[in-house]
Amino acid sequence: MKDTTLGTGAYKGVRDFYPKDMYVERYMFDTMSRAAESFGYSEYGASVLEPVELYKSKSSEEIVSEQTYTFTDRGGREVTLRPEMTPTVARMVAARERELTFPLRWYTIANMFRYERPQRGRMREHWQLNADIFGVPDIEAEVEIIALSSSIMKAFGAHESDFEIRVSDRSILFSLFDELALSQETQKQLLLLLDKKDRAPHSDIELEKLLGDKTSAFREKIKRASSSTELELLIKRLKGVGVTNAIVDTSIVRAFNYYTGIVFEVFDTSGENKRSLFGGGRYDNLLELFGKKKIPAVGFGMGDITLRDFLETHELLPEYVPRTDLYLCTLSEKARGYAQALAQELRAQDINVEVSLSVKRVGDQVAVASAKSIPFVICIGEDEMKSKEFTIKELKGGKEKVLLKETIADYIFSHI
Ligand code: HAM
Repeated sequence: MKDTTLGTGAYKGVRDFYPKDMYVERYMFDTMSRAAESFGYSEYGASVLEPVELYKSKSSEEIVSEQTYTFTDRGGREVTLRPEMTPTVARMVAARERELTFPLRWYTIANMFRYERPQRGRMREHWQLNADIFGVPDIEAEVEIIALSSSIMKAFGAHESDFEIRVSDRSILFSLFDELALSQETQKQLLLLLDKKDRAPHSDIELEKLLGDKTSAFREKIKRASSSTELELLIKRLKGVGVTNAIVDTSIVRAFNYYTGIVFEVFDTSGENKRSLFGGGRYDNLLELFGKKKIPAVGFGMGDITLRDFLETHELLPEYVPRTDLYLCTLSEKARGYAQALAQELRAQDINVEVSLSVKRVGDQVAVASAKSIPFVICIGEDEMKSKEFTIKELKGGKEKVLLKETIADYIFSHI
C-alpha cells in the first residue's frame, strides 16, 4: 500500500523557525531596526506578491529568467513572489512622489524568494533588511548608507577588523564599455559575468566568448581603472564618520541592471564566509520606469542568512533567553485556579507568566520550567494560599526568597 504519511521537513530551500531560531531572527531584526531608526529611517511594508512585469525591465536577467517564483493566478495574471525589494520600493515612491518629503529615508525587513540552489549563505527564502535614501544626487547619500551598514555591524558587536566594505563605481565600467563600443546586450551579459567571476570557474572562457577580439583590450583597461576621484572622496568622507574599513575594489559590480554609480559589498574577513555578506549601491534611473521624474536613490539589502553565518563565525550570537519570566507550579486543582488569578495580576505588571496545568509532583513541574530555561519558579499549594507568602526560586543558582504578592514583580525586575 502507498505510504500516505506526510513528511515533516520544510519545502526545499526554506527554513522553519523553531523558538530558538526565531529568537535569533528577532534579535537580528530588532538590532537592524534600531540602527536604521537611529539614522532617521521610517519603516514601510508591502505584499510579497507583485505583477511579473515589475522585474522584467531593470532587474537582473539571471534573477528574472532563472530564479523567480512566478505563477498564474485564477484571473490569468502572472504573479511573482518578490525576489528583492528594490522594484517594489521604487514603485511605492513613484506612486506618491508628490506627497512624500525628500530626502526620503525608508527601511523594511521582509522575506524574498529566489529559486537558487540551496547552499551555505543561499536559500530559496530569506529575510532582508532594505534601507534606501531617495532624492540625494551626490555622495552624501553613499556616505550615509555605508555608515548605516557599518553601524549595524557594530551594533551586533562586530569590530571593523571583522569585515571589509568594498566599494566600486559602475561609471568606471560604463565609460570602459563606451570606449570599447559594446552593445547594450553585451554590457548586460558582461556585468553578470563580472558579478559571478569569483564563483564561476569558467569565467575566463566565457569572457572571451562574449568579447571576442576585444577581450585583451578590456582586460588591459580594467586593470588600469583601479579607482576614481569619486571613490577616493568616498573613502575619505567615510573615514570622517568613523568608517575606516572601506576599500576600493573595482572588481565589485553587483548583478542588478539598475545600478548606475557607486556600488558596494561587505565581506567577512575571517575567510569562513566566502560570499559577500550584503551589498547595495546607487540607482538613479529606476523610478523613471514608472513614468515619473528621475529620483536619485541609494540603498542596500542585508540578508538574515549571511548575517547569521557571520555572527556565528565571530561568536556574536546572543544566548537564548526565553521571554517567560516566571513559572507557577500548582499542587492541587484549587491551587491552579489561584495561580491563574495570580498570573493575571502579575501579567498586568508586565511579568510574563506560565502556569502549570498539571498537578504532578513538584519536582516534575520544576523540571519543565528548567527545560524551558524559565528563570523563576513559585510553587503554589494550600500553605501559600493561606499565608499569602510565596517562595520564589531562581533556578540558576537555586537562590530562594519569601515574598508577599505585591513584591513579586519588583523582585523579578530587579533580578533579571
Ligand atoms: P542582493 O545582493 O541580491 O541585492 O541581495 C542583498 C543581500 O540579500 C545579499 O547580499 C544576501 O545577504 C541576501 N540574499 C540575496 N539572495 C539570497 C539568497 N538566495 N539566500 C540568502 N540570502 C540572500 C538586492 O537584493 C538589492 N535589491 C539590494 C538593494 C537595495 N540595492 C539597493 N537597495
